[in-house]
Amino acid sequence: MATQIAPEVDILRREIQEKYTEVASSPELTFHFHHGLPLAKILEYPEDLLAGLPPEAVESFAGVGNPFSVGEIAPGETVLDIGSGCGFDCMIAGRFVGPTGKVIGVDMTDAMLERSRKTAKSLGLAQVEFKKGFAEELPVPDNSVDVVISNGVINLTPDKYAVFKEVFRVLKPGGRLHLADIVVYKQVPDEAKEDVDLWTA
Ligand SMILES: C[S@@+](CC[C@H](N)C(=O)[O-])C[C@H]1O[C@@H](n2cnc3c(N)ncnc32)[C@H](O)[C@@H]1O
Repeated sequence: MATQIAPEVDILRREIQEKYTEVASSPELTFHFHHGLPLAKILEYPEDLLAGLPPEAVESFAGVGNPFSVGEIAPGETVLDIGSGCGFDCMIAGRFVGPTGKVIGVDMTDAMLERSRKTAKSLGLAQVEFKKGFAEELPVPDNSVDVVISNGVINLTPDKYAVFKEVFRVLKPGGRLHLADIVVYKQVPDEAKEDVDLWTA
């Protein structure tokens, strides 16, 4: 059954798409969050993961952590990246799974998809593909994924229950979730929840 989309969800998605279209097409700009290679260094991605990646693989990176720090990914596995953005983590995962594995990046922003597809092609990573879709309605079959990764995306979704339901649907039995995201321990005031600028960052 398709998820019911409330009008305010459409507005929120449009705002997020506008913001991340800018991050994808003009990474040289300053945003109110860190991005690009400086961010990857702040988040302590090890040098060996960054080695050999061209600037276009990382300059629109906008994650909040390193999903590879919480567990290993083996050759031949299938990895799904929810909200893959410029594909930075997908390129890294693509190297881990190798030519016998598969990496699927899902994102709702065309400019990010365009950028990530171009980078995967230039790196010759045929095992890495990108699909347009929503975290709440993943374009991926049931029981088909070994590892779900996601970096800084679920905090942008108003219906987190729907996203986790999708994560459990697509994971194979015994599958793993390597999640990097933002957790708030305090009650978020209603006025902050209604501020779309706070949702999009
Ligand atoms: C903060 S960026 C993180 C991108 C990437 N994970 C990274 O680490 O660079 C958020 C990305 O999630 C995507 N996104 C946000 N909400 C989404 C949703 N509901 N479904 C699919 N993609 C979404 C945006 O288009 C954007 O590319």
